[in-house]
Amino acid sequence: MKVNLGAKNCLYPMPTTIVGALVNGKPNYIPIAHVGIMDLGSVSLGMGKVHYTNAGIKENGSFSVNIPSVKMVKTTDYCGLVSGKTTDKSAIFKTFYGKLKTAPMIEECKINMECELIKTVDFPSHDIFVGKIVETYCDQEVLTDGVVNFDKVQPILFVMNDRSYWTLGERFAKAWEVGK
Ligand SMILES: Cc1cc2nc3c(=O)[nH]c(=O)nc-3n(C[C@H](O)[C@H](O)[C@H](O)COP(=O)(O)O)c2cc1C
Repeated sequence: MKVNLGAKNCLYPMPTTIVGALVNGKPNYIPIAHVGIMDLGSVSLGMGKVHYTNAGIKENGSFSVNIPSVKMVKTTDYCGLVSGKTTDKSAIFKTFYGKLKTAPMIEECKINMECELIKTVDFPSHDIFVGKIVETYCDQEVLTDGVVNFDKVQPILFVMNDRSYWTLGERFAKAWEVGK
């Protein structure tokens, strides 16, 4: 039997990312789980307009998307509990910069995507930022034969419905092969 849940978004789990941006000249970090792949070279972020980070993305035209590991869950969650409006989050992580020089990235995250803002879609309560990935940085240790192995990354999966973090399960089949 089906139960009506109302218009409930169930597109979870999503990877928990930490988006980095320069705001008023300082790095600010915000957990964002409402991320999307627009095409293979670009990403989208659904960011409430109330957040401090949005102005920095608009001003610099850049941001970073960092993938924290399960071990970083406390610092990741903390960044989502406090706002850059009242708390300086610039020293929580070790920051590095890449090609764009204006997209702060997190050294402790094993994967970092440096993005140039190419489009902002103005939703009533949210800014939808679309960024082109200009470079991706990755810790050597998470590669297996030159490919990112997410078993080694141990991303933090987020589910809004139960407001919880989950871990990645096991690989169980090969895509574009198992159905042949
Ligand atoms: C796991 C997690 C995921 C989140 N995902 C989003 C999101 O996708 N979009 C959003 O607008 N806020 C999201 N938030 C809320 C912001 O991260 C939070 O309000 C943050 O403190 C805002 O920081 P800022 O004001 O310094 O920009 C999330 C929070 C957590 C803990």
